Amino acid sequence: MPKIALTETVLRDANQSLVATRMHFADFADVLPLLDQAGFYSLECWGGATFDSCLRYLDEDPWERLRKIRAACPNSKLQMLLRGQNLLGYKHYPDDVVRLFVKKSIENGIDIIRIFDALNDLRNIEVAVDETIQNGAHASGTLCFTTSPVHDLDAFAKLAKQMESMGVHSICIKDMAGIMGPKEAFDLVSAIKQSVKLPVVVHTHSTTGLGFMTLLKAAEAGADVLDTAISSFSGGTSQPATETMAYTLRQMGFDLDVDSKKLKQINDFFKPSLAKFLADGTLNPVVMGTSTDALVYQIPGGMLSNLVAQLTAQNKLDQLDAVLEETPRVRADLGYPPLVTPMSQMVGAQAAANVLAGERYKNISKEIRSYVRGEYGRTPVPVNADLQKKILGDEQPITCRFADLLSPGVEAARAELGSRASCDEDVLSYIAFPPQAEAYFAKREAKKRAVVRYTIERVDK
Ligand code: CO
Repeated sequence: MPKIALTETVLRDANQSLVATRMHFADFADVLPLLDQAGFYSLECWGGATFDSCLRYLDEDPWERLRKIRAACPNSKLQMLLRGQNLLGYKHYPDDVVRLFVKKSIENGIDIIRIFDALNDLRNIEVAVDETIQNGAHASGTLCFTTSPVHDLDAFAKLAKQMESMGVHSICIKDMAGIMGPKEAFDLVSAIKQSVKLPVVVHTHSTTGLGFMTLLKAAEAGADVLDTAISSFSGGTSQPATETMAYTLRQMGFDLDVDSKKLKQINDFFKPSLAKFLADGTLNPVVMGTSTDALVYQIPGGMLSNLVAQLTAQNKLDQLDAVLEETPRVRADLGYPPLVTPMSQMVGAQAAANVLAGERYKNISKEIRSYVRGEYGRTPVPVNADLQKKILGDEQPITCRFADLLSPGVEAARAELGSRASCDEDVLSYIAFPPQAEAYFAKREAKKRAVVRYTIERVDK
């Protein structure tokens, strides 16, 4: 029987996609021993938006959260999502910051780092991949799935091959918008399996309703690991359900390690949690449904709702069709970037600007200017020459990695923080999200003082 494994995403992507990453550690602490024993390939539990959310909304130290998960799950591989040279954000960080971040993530308990770049520019993942390998962890080289005239099977297979020669331990196909269909998944997994000798992991979302079919065909093509979410936190903008996928795969003759009884207990644990998020408004039931507009327009659902919101705010919703026709033209002008954050927002906003101004590229955003300057990385094909000329004049776009132009950042941040940072992890929190980290440090200090005062008062008595 062919063997296949599941990665459980409830702690990271399901949490991020359904409830805006608002799960506290206390919300899932008690289920960690069960998750640890359920037979998953890995638990995706950190990175992505969890780090920002811990500091910004949850009053938690993200590093401490990771150490607690590590302690409660001694038998599991803990996995995180990392945006290559952007780490957990959107700007490019210098290499010393990327290396220290990766090293500390592994030291604090991460086993598998899924590393991607929004443009699939492998120069933007190579430092993070190298540091992951040097620290003895598993580097999962990740391809952002997209469709365009230049993103064919050959192009993706070639990228997989290049990642294999960088030393990654697995290849992940990341369909962040849930637009990869079953046939595309079957063909892509088959092509990558032919091109490399590494395990292939498939990540998608249920947004458009394709998810289950896509994962099943991926499995039939030989995928080794699939991402799923425990059923109460599955569906809609989250992943397909773990239990349903396990049931289906077993029926189709696959051999899986997950323990169905434990899955039921895990799901029973999360059911009231889901009800709580629904009751307090954190979870909008709309995101749990199936939204097929993305299939009609061939753009991610999130991008479509952004465009609708943007046009509604300007009282220009009647221009939606014109903007949706302009969107693929802007994307072509920009060299077919995958429509993932932040590119999806940038392309959508530029298409809207082109239509609303009645003139193409009359107004050009700061982000599009830096993109054309080459600061996001190498575009899949060159930017339209006229557009480049219009934005840069005679200036040439950079051809090196943007990070090559950045000065080291760790020492400078350490000096800025002084005694407010108690360890390298603090310095990294500050580099990643400065105001949020500073606010968190101040609160932590105040709490510490309150404890000291309380202790002294007790001693006085
Ligand atoms: Co995702």
